[in-house]
Amino acid sequence: MTTQANPTFPSTKPKILVARAIFPEALAKLEESFEVCSNQSDKILTPEELQKALSEVEGALVAGSERIDASALSQATNLKVIANISVGYNNFDVPAMTAAGVMATNTPDVLTDTTADFGFALLMATARRITESEHWVRGGKWDQWSIVNNPLGMDLHHSTVGIIGMGRIGQGIAKRGLGFGMKVIYHNRSHLSDADEQACGATYVSKEELLRTADHVVLVLPYTTQNHHTIGAPEIALMKPTATLINIARGGIVDDGALAQALQEGKIFAAGLDVFEGEPQVHPELLKCRNIVLAPHIASATEKTRRAMVDLAIENLCAALAGKRPPSLINAEVFST
Ligand code: DGY
Repeated sequence: MTTQANPTFPSTKPKILVARAIFPEALAKLEESFEVCSNQSDKILTPEELQKALSEVEGALVAGSERIDASALSQATNLKVIANISVGYNNFDVPAMTAAGVMATNTPDVLTDTTADFGFALLMATARRITESEHWVRGGKWDQWSIVNNPLGMDLHHSTVGIIGMGRIGQGIAKRGLGFGMKVIYHNRSHLSDADEQACGATYVSKEELLRTADHVVLVLPYTTQNHHTIGAPEIALMKPTATLINIARGGIVDDGALAQALQEGKIFAAGLDVFEGEPQVHPELLKCRNIVLAPHIASATEKTRRAMVDLAIENLCAALAGKRPPSLINAEVFST
């Protein structure tokens, strides 16, 4: 890690940690106002390195790779804010941050459409066997056009998409589905307002009904311990053998071992995964499946959106260090105390 402190005159600028590589322009902007300890090598800090780095700063920009819990915060006596460059914040132990008086922030809204686009792309690639077809062509297996002996997929248009987790991104996927003439059903902790349901053309159903009736199941719910293995063998057993399963939520929402077995046994048609249990490791049995599309957690990965996420995280950090309420504060009670 490098720090940009003036070696001759002690800096009076607040110290911050940038725990992962960010865009050079963003880093340069931070260096105008802060003494920056930056990990531009992008090698993920060990828990010990993170604990030490947090003990020396007033604010930090982190990503999902940094677990922020009581241990990470145990020596962080001057820390005021940790800004996640991510909308999901299952890497945060929010009660521990609140107990330590540390503001927690994330990056909602700026990635909604990009992530919904990707969810839809993964759904299309999975249902229409696009990556499998590409491997087939590259492998020299395509010798003629055929009515039946080509990779035959499942239709999206006029099918039923079932969305589990109907926040902003889930609603974005629903709206894209409407453009394809899809029937949209959803399951969520709470019902949407009538106006939001109407805007998405979506109908609330139980999880069981969704799994039984959807042609395509899309997971967009946040990871919590209650949501661990929301989809395991019993849930997959409810799905149609022609159905697809798409996970753009978080690893751990799906039991990847059970999914691999179901794909290998043809219990469902196919799956598209952007997130994995224990990523970047991928369950070895998933890698053996033909009927799967795999992506390396890139749903929000366009340059414009990643820049917007970094910019919002910086805005959150700067507001907190200036004594103002960060725009996307998670634990409001820390600000009011
Ligand atoms: C998010 O913002 O939550 C993305 O999944 C990146 O972690």
